[in-house]
Amino acid sequence: MNVPDIIIAVDGFSSTGKSTFAKMVAKEFGFLYLDSGAMYRGVTLFAMESGFIAADGSIDEPALKAVIGTLDLHFRRDSGATLLFLGERCIEDQIRTLEVSSHVSPISAIPFVRNFVDGKLHAFSEGGRVIMDGRDIGTTVFPNAELKIFMTADENVRAQRRFDEMVSKGQNPVFEEVLANLKERDYIDSHREASPLSQAADAFVMDNTHMTMHEELVWALGVIQGKFGILEAALSC
Ligand code: DC
Repeated sequence: MNVPDIIIAVDGFSSTGKSTFAKMVAKEFGFLYLDSGAMYRGVTLFAMESGFIAADGSIDEPALKAVIGTLDLHFRRDSGATLLFLGERCIEDQIRTLEVSSHVSPISAIPFVRNFVDGKLHAFSEGGRVIMDGRDIGTTVFPNAELKIFMTADENVRAQRRFDEMVSKGQNPVFEEVLANLKERDYIDSHREASPLSQAADAFVMDNTHMTMHEELVWALGVIQGKFGILEAALSC
């Protein structure tokens, strides 16, 4: 299907499958996929490795602020996938641990961190034809995105998905901890002062609690066709 060169913003709660959905849509329609949460996770990993996060979870904000401008955090495309690098190091696996997950929400609530990430996201999106997922893409990063999607799902289903993903990566998670982390992140993400998670008024809402990936793709196709008046109906799968 011939989709115009638009920006698609996908926002929603933790582990609603935003990245899986966005990657699938990107592949189907030939878009660049960018994971904004990965950038926040990358900053968090850097802060942890630099000793800016104390054992009690407190963050040395002045120290982080002093160096954030020099942080070489960038995406690289590798046979269709978009991978996050810190300098020359691919950090895709390190940023998905429970330890990073447990520090990322407070880090992402810091306004200078948000400014840093927003700048990077805009730079990577130049030229359009991008689908980006996060918490504030349709409300703050790209308030004029031509298509906004807000994803939600039952929290136990979301925790189970996150648990399964961690197991598949060789980690050894405890379900209750994964669920607690997810609830805590949802709370912090939607209650913080700087650019909280919220549904854009003009977003299309998808509750995927009981949806398969194929159903999600068919849903996206319907939304795109309806919004842009496209009559063609072909899906590649
Ligand atoms: O999507 P994720 O779980 O990988 O995101 C990690 C954290 O980053 C999440 O807890 C909130 C934060 N985040 C954000 O504040 N704004 C975004 N646009 C994307 C993620």
